[in-house]
Amino acid sequence: MQKPTISLREEQIAFFHREGYLAIPAITTPEEIERLIGIYDHLFAIKAGRAEGNQYDLAGTDEDDKEAAVSQIVHLSRYAPELVNLLYWVNAQAIAAQLLGLEVEMQSDHGIMKPPGSDAPTPWHQDEAYWRPDLVHNAVTIWMPLQEVTLENGCMQFIPSSHTGEVSSHHSIGHDPRVHGLEVDSVEASKAVACPIPAGGATIHHCRTLHYTGPNRTDKPRRAYILNFAAPTTKLEISRDFYWQGMRQTARDERRKKAGTVSTSGGKLRDKG
Ligand code: NI
Repeated sequence: MQKPTISLREEQIAFFHREGYLAIPAITTPEEIERLIGIYDHLFAIKAGRAEGNQYDLAGTDEDDKEAAVSQIVHLSRYAPELVNLLYWVNAQAIAAQLLGLEVEMQSDHGIMKPPGSDAPTPWHQDEAYWRPDLVHNAVTIWMPLQEVTLENGCMQFIPSSHTGEVSSHHSIGHDPRVHGLEVDSVEASKAVACPIPAGGATIHHCRTLHYTGPNRTDKPRRAYILNFAAPTTKLEISRDFYWQGMRQTARDERRKKAGTVSTSGGKLRDKG
């Protein structure tokens, strides 16, 4: 078992709790990123997990014969078990424990790849809008790009301090129930802060922080590898109504049903960052 090689300073922890996000210049080594790109590109090339609904188009209608606008693979490490040995995982776990406490647990890992020239943004949303409405969530998403990210290829953007409120109303992207991705109904986008970072850097955000990535206007893929960590959940006495979750009818859910995996309605999964 590797030991973590980084830890957050007091002022970074305070910044995260105040602003709901944090950007750091390095969470792993350039050598690990280089190795990871080979594994990652292979998994996306073969659309690993498509038959069981773990690969799908996050921002489009997800037809089999169409290139995804934004390709997502959830549970990436099921298709490449060596990923669990990454220094990235060790450092991410250590950071999550600093932010949420020692009882924090890894929930899921996933990749989001924006193909070269993809004009699809990942619209403004809160990750908690995808999750179970009957639980109290306290979680962080750690988002690591495998190449430099800038405004041009879709770096992460945040609305500062948006994590201090409730979960806002969401709808399927473009109000199209066939699309898996969610978009918040309203946002003050003029308050956005963009976080360009190098390959192997990371952004960290709370599960209620509003976030967005723009289109990829470059001729190279924009790759991100994402880990979710959560403190133990407790049950709410009265569940919230995340009605937008029940309105989706996606090809991904059809594949999941056919493969015998659980339906996402009711938001059991926390599989999207
Ligand atoms: Ni997200």
